[in-house]
Amino acid sequence: KRNLCAAGTDGAISFEYHRYEELRKALVSVWLQCPTITRIYTIGESFEGRELLVLEMSDNPGTHEPGEPEFKYIANMHGNEAVGRELLIYLAQYLCNQYQQGNETIVDLIHNTRIHLMPSMNPDGFEKAASQPGEIKDWFVGRSNAQGVDLNRNFPDLDRIIYINEREGGANNHLLQNMKKAVDENTKLAPETKAVIHWIMDIPFVLSANLHGGDVVANYPYDETRTGSTHEYSASPDDVMFKSLARAYSMYNPVMSDPHRAPCRKNDDDSSFKDGITNGGAWYSVPGGMQDFNYLSSNCFEITLELSCDKFPNEETLKSYWEQNRNSLVNYIEQVHRGVKGFVRDLQGNPISNATVSVEGIDHDITTAKDGDYWRLLAPGNYKVAASAPGYLTVIKKVAVPYSPATRVDFELESLMERKEEEREELMDWWKMMSETLNF
Ligand SMILES: *[C@@H]1O[C@H](CO)[C@@H](O)[C@H](O)[C@H]1NC(C)=O
Ligand SMILES: *[C@@H]1O[C@H](CO)[C@@H](O)[C@H](O)[C@H]1NC(C)=O
Ligand SMILES: [Zn+2]
Repeated sequence: KRNLCAAGTDGAISFEYHRYEELRKALVSVWLQCPTITRIYTIGESFEGRELLVLEMSDNPGTHEPGEPEFKYIANMHGNEAVGRELLIYLAQYLCNQYQQGNETIVDLIHNTRIHLMPSMNPDGFEKAASQPGEIKDWFVGRSNAQGVDLNRNFPDLDRIIYINEREGGANNHLLQNMKKAVDENTKLAPETKAVIHWIMDIPFVLSANLHGGDVVANYPYDETRTGSTHEYSASPDDVMFKSLARAYSMYNPVMSDPHRAPCRKNDDDSSFKDGITNGGAWYSVPGGMQDFNYLSSNCFEITLELSCDKFPNEETLKSYWEQNRNSLVNYIEQVHRGVKGFVRDLQGNPISNATVSVEGIDHDITTAKDGDYWRLLAPGNYKVAASAPGYLTVIKKVAVPYSPATRVDFELESLMERKEEEREELMDWWKMMSETLNF
């Protein structure tokens, strides 16, 4: 029962489930079709030794281009939530087809963004879920990894740290800085979790989404409540932008954004859903989740997408999920080009990496990447943006930010040593002038 749609905008996408070997083959065939803009790599292995495969799409696959933002989609971290896994395979095929057909939107996107697609973070769980006989799958079988670990409760709980820092002072970003060794030695972390932590900390991701199933909503940080209660709106410092990002997804999905959509199950409490989006904590508190981990350990903003009431729906419905989500998936990637971006350099033009970019009124700083490049996602408005680094004078600029595209703002920081040297020279000149004038 191949559901091949040979012509039209969806090209030759086959709407069917892909088991582990088929997933690999599907990614390889995209790579063979579009070799100049794709690359397949793995970030590690699952507990049972399956590869955590990523398809990268960019005009220069394999390298971070200075100034070009990085984006990722991760699906199927709950192995039995299968729709996202398939959507990322179709998305890869769609982007490759459209690129070859010269679709300007897609060509621009791929030329200006480094996109990483990971269809399955939990390939072991998926195999277990998919191996159940019959069309109806159990609600829980295959959710966890092969060790029985729920990967979306397995990340270091940085929310607890940020909630202390909010009260008592302390870092407001990169909370795992200089702790890679502790991560490697932590025996409670599943291999899938460790691999993703390294990935998040090694690549300067700007924006991300994590694809789930079991409900239909775009969920934004924080996921864990401040007080520990089960339901409580838990705003992050970037609440305004996160709402805008979640809406950028839900808006293009006619089912998600339908204000009259009935809850997935009769007794579900959807009272926190509005316009197809919800704050995580307001829905239900999740400690140790991946979404908040991204925001608190790196520069990456992540939201969580719930894409289907059924976690593992019939194969026949996959095409309709693709149709519901296609424009959302593309539009959400485009959100990476919002806010303020640019470079932080010294007066000689050398990049300053790990400089801090802060926005007045938002208690969450961003840092520059290796080439001094930075991306600060922001909702429309007027801002004061500051760049600082140890040993340099801080520079503050006023910036007007439209909805999109991102406003380019570069910073040139004067080093304090240069400043001292300048002051010394000025003093010497002054002395010279004085002594000449007064003739002594
Ligand atoms: C080009 O891609 C965009 C984004 O996916 C889509 O909305 C549009 O319909 C495509 N254009 C054509 C001619 O297929
Ligand atoms: C980045 O800067 C912060 C604060 O200035 C510092 O604590 C941290 O060690 C630096 N990280 C690296 C990798 O240099
Ligand atoms: Zn899930």
